[in-house]
Amino acid sequence: MNPVLKVIYGRKSIRSYENKNIPEDIKDEIIKASIKAPTAGNMMLYSIIEVADQSKKDTLAKTCDDQPFIAKAPLVLLFLADYQRWYDYFIYSEVPELCNRMNIKIRRPQEGDLFLACSDAIIAAQNAAIAAESLGLGSCYIGDIMENYETHRKLFNLPQYVFPIVLLCFGYPTRKQKNREQASRFDKQLIVFKDKYKRLNKKEFNNMQKNLEEKVVKVNHFLPGAQNIGQHIFLRKFNADFSKEMTRSVRAILQNWLHE
Ligand SMILES: Cc1cc2nc3c(=O)[nH]c(=O)nc-3n(C[C@H](O)[C@H](O)[C@H](O)COP(=O)(O)O)c2cc1C
Repeated sequence: MNPVLKVIYGRKSIRSYENKNIPEDIKDEIIKASIKAPTAGNMMLYSIIEVADQSKKDTLAKTCDDQPFIAKAPLVLLFLADYQRWYDYFIYSEVPELCNRMNIKIRRPQEGDLFLACSDAIIAAQNAAIAAESLGLGSCYIGDIMENYETHRKLFNLPQYVFPIVLLCFGYPTRKQKNREQASRFDKQLIVFKDKYKRLNKKEFNNMQKNLEEKVVKVNHFLPGAQNIGQHIFLRKFNADFSKEMTRSVRAILQNWLHE
């Protein structure tokens, strides 16, 4: 198999790391790969913060839905959707004066700009995850970085047009993690369509349920009250406190981003 596909197919999220530092040249390689990722208009609408301070890692381990492994990760990278740099540069480049001359109303970063910047940041993050995997490291995304905005804003000194979109933890996988089975995926026909979107029918939902059952029932039991996998996932993920906190926090970020 070609080596790129081998890395992609072999990857799994790693949440437990050997107590071993990551050499600087390996870190540099991961960052280099990250910033080689495609980026909208070649504008690099993202920033990356290496969270090296142990007390900050400890805080994240709590604020990102109580996930202690974050504090133990030898490398933690925070990916920020970032329009602040370009907006500041526009001001520095006297764009307001240009707008005045041309009788244009100056535009601030808006929703579309935010989504584009999020795409940039996430694509850069995935390059880092794949590069790390190819170098023998494991990684795990932390989506919960979107929670507790007020705390994270202070912790990392985030200005208005910066949105903390994903956190990535890296480290050398423990033997147990290395040998752990990979997570399964839904069958391709549930996910990939031709030419137009397709809503799933009963037969396809049964197929989806089979996939979920394989994934969930083997490891966990249903949560109290749940009678099937759909109900279990609803309670465990969609309706969980962390999801509600994420929505509250994202609304606060948006409010700040869109504030004129
Ligand atoms: C956007 C995003 C957010 C995630 N957030 C978390 C997280 O907060 N904690 C965690 O342990 N795993 C997190 N993961 C990892 C997923 O749980 C993992 O990718 C999924 O279960 C599939 O397993 P695999 O990566 O081993 O194939 C996240 C993944 C993505 C893409």
